[in-house]
Amino acid sequence: MMNTIFKRDILEGLNSAPKQLSSKYFYDEKGSEIFQEIMQMKSYYLPGCETEILTEKSQEIISRLPNPTYDVVELGAGDGTKTALFLDALLKSEKTINYLPLDISPEILEVNKDFLIEKFPDLNILPIAGDYFETLEKIKPRKNPKIVLFLGSNIGNFEGEKAVAFLKFVRQYLVKGDLFMLGADLKKHPQTILKAYDDPEGITKRFNLNLLHRINRELEGNFIPENYDHYASYDPLSGTTKSFLISKIKQNVQVGGQAIDFEKNEPVHMEISQKYNISDLIQLRENAGFKTDHHFTDSQKYFSISLFEY
Ligand SMILES: C[S@@+](CC[C@H](N)C(=O)[O-])C[C@H]1O[C@@H](n2cnc3c(N)ncnc32)[C@H](O)[C@@H]1O
Repeated sequence: MMNTIFKRDILEGLNSAPKQLSSKYFYDEKGSEIFQEIMQMKSYYLPGCETEILTEKSQEIISRLPNPTYDVVELGAGDGTKTALFLDALLKSEKTINYLPLDISPEILEVNKDFLIEKFPDLNILPIAGDYFETLEKIKPRKNPKIVLFLGSNIGNFEGEKAVAFLKFVRQYLVKGDLFMLGADLKKHPQTILKAYDDPEGITKRFNLNLLHRINRELEGNFIPENYDHYASYDPLSGTTKSFLISKIKQNVQVGGQAIDFEKNEPVHMEISQKYNISDLIQLRENAGFKTDHHFTDSQKYFSISLFEY
């Protein structure tokens, strides 16, 4: 099933103009491992800033949660290291919680569960593997008040109106008083942003090229990854970072039984990462139909964890 959808999406992307590959497919086992390396990179300031906010401001965030019990639902949960800081603060505030991590990568959900069970042996963890667009409805029958976490600047992967549509999609599964907690990267000096997506060690390049290895393995592809470069750009006017693979030569590749032609220097769009001002986040909240917003930032004001109430 998964393989059919993967094949459909990859072929659709490679047959479109310009060519594109969806960033949600970066995270196979190897991709999740490389992403953990990215999180350790000095130039990739995002997790450090978000960790600072969760360390310093979780209590302040929790003071805005009126109920004694919550289902903590996390979309694109990843390895759970940052989430642990928030869960710890919730437990210390004597909230009763269930934790429901949703991720497309079953491997990272295993890592997440092992890590959190060791830290919080009594925590009720209910992992849900799959694309959150398909799996979020599994939370619908649950009656506890909810706080939905969407951390790690994941919102940045949705361009323009798609971010509003995503929040509206999540809102369908909430009731009045439920909360949405959003980690968003803020606009800052363009060089600081660009360096985060274009490290000299080439880890980000490896992360992007890994998707070609995955296609080779799962869709009988014959990409030669060395024939592609990684290129990243940031536009300070729109606040959008984009990353591409660039075909270094004219070449023909087989994927899932189809032949795909690449021109020399042809780009393949891989990922966008949108940056926000607080005013952009307020606009996003209003457009998506949430009632209130509060914003918690790190000391450099590089990153915001924003709490929206439905
Ligand atoms: C950038 S990582 C962030 C992980 C974590 N939230 C953090 O802040 O460290 C994105 C995570 O979202 C997951 N993901 C991406 N697209 C997804 C989708 N459509 N459905 C479910 N999970 C998805 C990936 O597997 C990955 O673990």
